[in-house]
Amino acid sequence: MILVIWAALGYLIGSIPFGLVITRALGLGDLRQIGSGNIGATNVLRTGNKPAALATLLLDSGKGAIAVLLARHFGGETAAILAGGAAFLGHCFPVWLGFKGGKGVATFLGTLIALYWPLGLIACATWLATALVSRISSLSALMAAALAPVFAWALGRSDLILVCLFIAVLIFIRHHANITRLLDGSEPRIGRKS
Ligand code: G3P
Repeated sequence: MILVIWAALGYLIGSIPFGLVITRALGLGDLRQIGSGNIGATNVLRTGNKPAALATLLLDSGKGAIAVLLARHFGGETAAILAGGAAFLGHCFPVWLGFKGGKGVATFLGTLIALYWPLGLIACATWLATALVSRISSLSALMAAALAPVFAWALGRSDLILVCLFIAVLIFIRHHANITRLLDGSEPRIGRKS
């Protein structure tokens, strides 16, 4: 029963749409009407405001990490994994936005770092390496998400494979429009509007 509370708390923390809050506070308009319409850091960057994008990245990843650390401190490792997965779900399906949220990549990476930092670090390095080569945020996210369960297995953290798999599948589903654009070559490079 207490695990349900950790899942609910993780969901609530994850559901804070920082990208939307920050861009609104700065008068940059409604993020959902800009670029891809996503509420994440990549789309905040399309407003041209780099500090806002960085703040979104840090806060969206930080909320995943906070959910995990809080749950672990008070509830143990299973609570931490549940809270991390729930924070990711909260970002993707926030009740405040009619369950129409983001793609969960930053929250996923923050969650992984807090769950097991070597795994989080390798996933971030995968994102970064792909981004350096391709300059495409979505492709970098898909690579990091697809490889995370493999990395969890390789690092001997079989307890994290299921949550990584669950999140990876959802990240692919949330990126369906990006995947279509990647396949027809029209996915914009990082920082570009189109
Ligand atoms: O983290 C989100 C990223 O993978 C894709 O964002 O705005 O290009 O759809 P966007």
